[in-house]
Amino acid sequence: MEKIVISLGGSVVSSNGVNMNFIKAFINVLETIPSLSKCGIVVGGGSLARGYIEPLKNERINNYFLDRVGIKATRLNAELIVNLLKDVENVIPESVDEALMVWKNRKFVVMGGTIPGHTTDTVAMLLAEASGMDEFINGTSVEGVYSKDPMTNKGSKKFENLTYSEALSLSLESYKNAGSNVFMDPVSLLIARRANIKIHVIKGDIPENYRDVIEKKKKIGTLIS
Ligand code: UTP
Repeated sequence: MEKIVISLGGSVVSSNGVNMNFIKAFINVLETIPSLSKCGIVVGGGSLARGYIEPLKNERINNYFLDRVGIKATRLNAELIVNLLKDVENVIPESVDEALMVWKNRKFVVMGGTIPGHTTDTVAMLLAEASGMDEFINGTSVEGVYSKDPMTNKGSKKFENLTYSEALSLSLESYKNAGSNVFMDPVSLLIARRANIKIHVIKGDIPENYRDVIEKKKKIGTLIS
């Protein structure tokens, strides 16, 4: 695979503090895949976003402003990646248009969220659509897409393959509001469907998983197509 967009879950980058060992190994993998010439990385907010959203939610602040807080967290997490990559403009674009501009003469672009109302999955999928990608990686905290949240449901089953429509139904079931815990937000799946972009949902905290998908070494996680 020559080009890819990665939606990197915030929990992978920072959980209890910054996961610097993971970040360095992740960057090393992406910088050493010979076939890879273009790579967009969109970083989520993880526990940083939730840690700021939850206390304000308790004060009945509305979702627009909670989203605005979440976006700031995603951009801070994106700083962790952009400062360590070599072939990148060291800025965090605030829109997909801006990302396309700073990506032109570089292998990498790194960004976080853009506007309230969606998550970084949607930002990443729009970046993938705008740049003509065929495939997309969603690096999450679990091994793929499950019938129910595997963290809280013991008997939940992992899917090997899903259609866009099946994934959309599962996503809508668990999508509620700012900071809600869902494998991918519904808007990102609608964009993937209209652009016919294949999605690999993989366990995001294992750097070699990205190599396996990009170099098509083995099938891992869940494929949505
Ligand atoms: P994330 O993309 O990390 O969302 O953005 P998430 O699915 O809740 O968290 P992960 O995938 O487990 O890391 C964090 C929050 O920032 C706001 C939303 O409130 C989102 O829940 N956000 C993010 C936006 O409003 N717009 C964006 O473009 C990105």
